[in-house]
Amino acid sequence: MASSSFALILFSLLIFSFSAPAISKRPSASDEKFIVHELPKIFDNGLIDIVDLNLVPYGNANLLKNGSIICQHGPDECFFNTVEACAITFMSQEKSFEFIRCVQNFIAEGKMNESSSCLYKTPGHGSVIKKCYENGFGQKIELPYANVTAALNPPHEYVPWVTVNKVPLHMDIENFMKYICKAYKGTSKPKACQELPTGIIPAEPKPNMKACRVNETSPTTKTRPRGITWWKF
Ligand SMILES: *[C@@H]1O[C@H](CO)[C@@H](O)[C@H](O)[C@H]1NC(C)=O
Ligand SMILES: *[C@@H]1O[C@H](CO)[C@@H](O)[C@H](O)[C@H]1NC(C)=O
Ligand SMILES: *[C@@H]1O[C@H](CO)[C@@H](O)[C@H](O)[C@H]1NC(C)=O
Ligand SMILES: *[C@@H]1O[C@H](CO)[C@@H](O)[C@H](O)[C@H]1NC(C)=O
Repeated sequence: MASSSFALILFSLLIFSFSAPAISKRPSASDEKFIVHELPKIFDNGLIDIVDLNLVPYGNANLLKNGSIICQHGPDECFFNTVEACAITFMSQEKSFEFIRCVQNFIAEGKMNESSSCLYKTPGHGSVIKKCYENGFGQKIELPYANVTAALNPPHEYVPWVTVNKVPLHMDIENFMKYICKAYKGTSKPKACQELPTGIIPAEPKPNMKACRVNETSPTTKTRPRGITWWKF
């Protein structure tokens, strides 16, 4: 894989309310929309071949001095971040992305309890992720994500936070493929780039974009993540 365009995508799961019924009418967050609908396009059109894609399932979490991570939306968010970190570590890029997309899609639909079905789409992966989560390795591999996040310059303001060659796209993430093509310095532009409209016209500011800001506080729960009980590991 060529790494002419280095894309770093910081994301996490947005869980707004722990008392919400499984079928809630909360708006689908940008984070989930981006992962579920936008990012898959580069796997379909071949742009993935010119991208060094780095997914960072960490969101707006905080790392305490003693090494514990506190997630913005509580233990469930940490649970999903951790199993996604496990997927990134132990599955191929394509398979781990498929898994992450599957999980985020259930979350976007308010069906977190169904997301464990994503584990069993590929034989063998369920047990790998179960082991990674249960033996604590998953929590350890979240730590470098804390560092990657803290090292961002300029610092991230919200998630999803997409950078291409370290330049944040801010609210213009819908144009992310254009930024990738623009950053690509190889000789022959991929076909997908030739097919995109040329020139980057920054998208209109989107006051309604449901980004989740760093300083936002959310109701959290201190209980064990419900994800564990939902997931039929
Ligand atoms: C770290 O500190 C937090 C808050 O004081 C505490 O809840 C947590 O259990 C501690 N973690 C470890 C691994 O000691
Ligand atoms: C998830 O929750 C919904 C609503 O409570 C329920 O109908 C459904 O059977 C649950 N699914 C699983 C896999 O537990
Ligand atoms: C994170 O960064 C700190 C200091 O910046 C360093 O001491 C630590 O080893 C790093 N941890 C990881 C897991 O990269
Ligand atoms: C969070 O930061 C934004 C931008 O800096 C600011 O407009 C907003 O008032 C802050 N919100 C809180 C709850 O501090």
